[in-house]
Amino acid sequence: MAIETEIARHYGNGEIVERILAALRAANGPDAPVTVDALSVLDHFHGRGIAATQELVALLKPEPGEHILDIGSGIGGPARWFAAKCGVQVTGVDLTPEFCAAAEALNRATGLAGRITIKNGSALALPVADNAFDRAYSQNVIMNIADKRQFYREAFRALKPNGVLALSNLCRGAAGEFLYPVPWAETAATSFLASPDEMRADLLAAGFEIVVFHDTTAETLPATIRNRERLERGGLGALGTHLIMGERLLAMQINSARNQEAGLGRTIEALVRKPGYSASA
Ligand SMILES: C[S@@+](CC[C@H](N)C(=O)[O-])C[C@H]1O[C@@H](n2cnc3c(N)ncnc32)[C@H](O)[C@@H]1O
Repeated sequence: MAIETEIARHYGNGEIVERILAALRAANGPDAPVTVDALSVLDHFHGRGIAATQELVALLKPEPGEHILDIGSGIGGPARWFAAKCGVQVTGVDLTPEFCAAAEALNRATGLAGRITIKNGSALALPVADNAFDRAYSQNVIMNIADKRQFYREAFRALKPNGVLALSNLCRGAAGEFLYPVPWAETAATSFLASPDEMRADLLAAGFEIVVFHDTTAETLPATIRNRERLERGGLGALGTHLIMGERLLAMQINSARNQEAGLGRTIEALVRKPGYSASA
C-alpha cells in the first residue's frame, strides 16, 4: 500500500484539465471543439502515444456494443478513443485520483460520459465484478506493479470466459545502469520491470493462453530516437503529455529514450485469452 501511495503521488498533480484546455485553446482557437481527435496529441500517456493505442485496437479487435476494461486508464485518452472509434462501453480503473478526475472531466467535455465509467482503485484489487468484461487492455502500467501475478489474476477474474486481454508492456532488457527519473518513476523504488520470459510465465501462471507475444523493440526504436532528438533540440512544444505531468516530463522522457537506446528496456505487445469452459467442465 505504501508503494501505491508513492506511485499515485508521483503521477498526481493539480489543474491537469485547466492546463490541457488552455493549451488546446491557444493552439486551435478559443472556439475549437474539444474532441477525441484534438486531445489525441496529448492524452495517450505512453510511449508513441496515439500510434500505440491504434495498434492496441488492431490487436484487441473490439466489437461495437462490447464492454471493455482499461486497467490503469490514466486521464482516459485510450478509453475515449476505444469508446468513440469502436462503439464500445469502457470501464477504466486507475490508482491516481487526479487522473480519474481529469478523465471524467474530459469524458464530459467530449460528450462520452455516458459511454465511459471511471473508477479510482487498484489493478491489484479491481473494483469490478467477476466475468464482467468481453475484452480488456492495459497500456504501460505493469512497470509500476511489483506483484505482476496478482495483476494478471485480477484481469483474468474480470474477463468473461474466452475474453481477451491486450497488453502493451515495458519489460527489462540487458543489464546496465537505468537512468532515473523516468515518466513512471522517480527512482528504482517504484519501477518493476519483468523480463519478457517472466512476463510470459506470469501470464501462464494466472491461467491465460498466449495468442500473440510480439517484441516490438526494434521496430519502435527509430521513433524513440527521433522523439528524443526532437526533445533535446526543441524542448516540450505546445501540446503533449507534459500537460499531464508538467515540465518535469522533459528529463523523464529523455532518460526513458536513452534507456531504450541502451537496450535496457524491451517493448512487448501481447494478446492473451481466458480459456472458455465446456458445459461438462
Ligand atoms: C504511464 S501511465 C499510462 C496511462 C494510460 N494507460 C495511457 O496509456 O494513457 C500509468 C498509469 O498507471 C496507473 N497505475 C499505476 N499503478 C497502478 C495500480 N496499482 N492500479 C491502477 N493503476 C495504476 C497510474 O496511475 C497511471 O495512470
